[in-house]
Amino acid sequence: MRFLHLSDVHVTADYRRHSLVRLGWRRWLALGELTFGGRARAFARAPETITRILEDARTLEVDHVILSGDVTAYALPAEFDGARAAMGQWAEEPRRCTVIPGNHDRYTPGAHRTRRFEQTFGNLLVSDLPDIAVEEGFPFVRLLGEHDAVIGLQSARVPYFPGLSYGIVGRKQRDALAALVHRPELEGRAVLVVVHHAPFGELGKPDRLLHGLVDAPAVLALIPGERFALLHGHIHQRYHFPATDRRPHIFGAGSSTQAGHEGYWIIETAGGRIARCEKRSLTG
Ligand SMILES: [Fe+2]
Ligand SMILES: [Fe+2]
Repeated sequence: MRFLHLSDVHVTADYRRHSLVRLGWRRWLALGELTFGGRARAFARAPETITRILEDARTLEVDHVILSGDVTAYALPAEFDGARAAMGQWAEEPRRCTVIPGNHDRYTPGAHRTRRFEQTFGNLLVSDLPDIAVEEGFPFVRLLGEHDAVIGLQSARVPYFPGLSYGIVGRKQRDALAALVHRPELEGRAVLVVVHHAPFGELGKPDRLLHGLVDAPAVLALIPGERFALLHGHIHQRYHFPATDRRPHIFGAGSSTQAGHEGYWIIETAGGRIARCEKRSLTG
């Protein structure tokens, strides 16, 4: 089965068209990052780039597209609408598409309380084993064909203060994952586990404090070996670490739409294991 993994597409609204009152104080702090930090410019063409990547998915005969969070800049409704429109038909089909939320999609308490991510992509959060969900529908699992499965985890939380962008899967979801990988329904399948935060960066070192996946070692230890892959985003670095007998394959998708860094992974499975992968860049 052929998977396409993209991440951190950060569809960004025109913030000049929103009043400061409606943006709320958390986004005021983000305005500097958007303007002076060049972030709005870097992601100005995000919807077009998503469309281009999904055209590649058709050309390459991809079976399933995985987007590992940060679909928006700062969780505005217009950004969710833009991301949903850019995903097109793929976002209609849970058998062919998986999307999980990133910290930018849970940027404000209001966005979380009103289930803004779920209102947009909730149809993709369905699970073939709903009894294993322990937290807001997570983990969910999609059993694909005879030999593959995708598991979605939630690591993105509303931060106590903007800029605190660490994530945690947490004990309840980890226990559910531990039980899930031993269920007979998953026996012999290649399993792609999707989480937003990064267990470590492209140099193999833990992500920095207050930015990383707090319980990364505990999560990785649950899914060791060639059968498993952990697919993540968040750190905007595209890399692959092969599996060992103590941890799974690890794929960082980078930011698939950031100007000058556009790209994604193609990951192929065969016979219940990760068989091949290819890092693809749109920048030549
Ligand atoms: Fe991101
Ligand atoms: Fe992120």
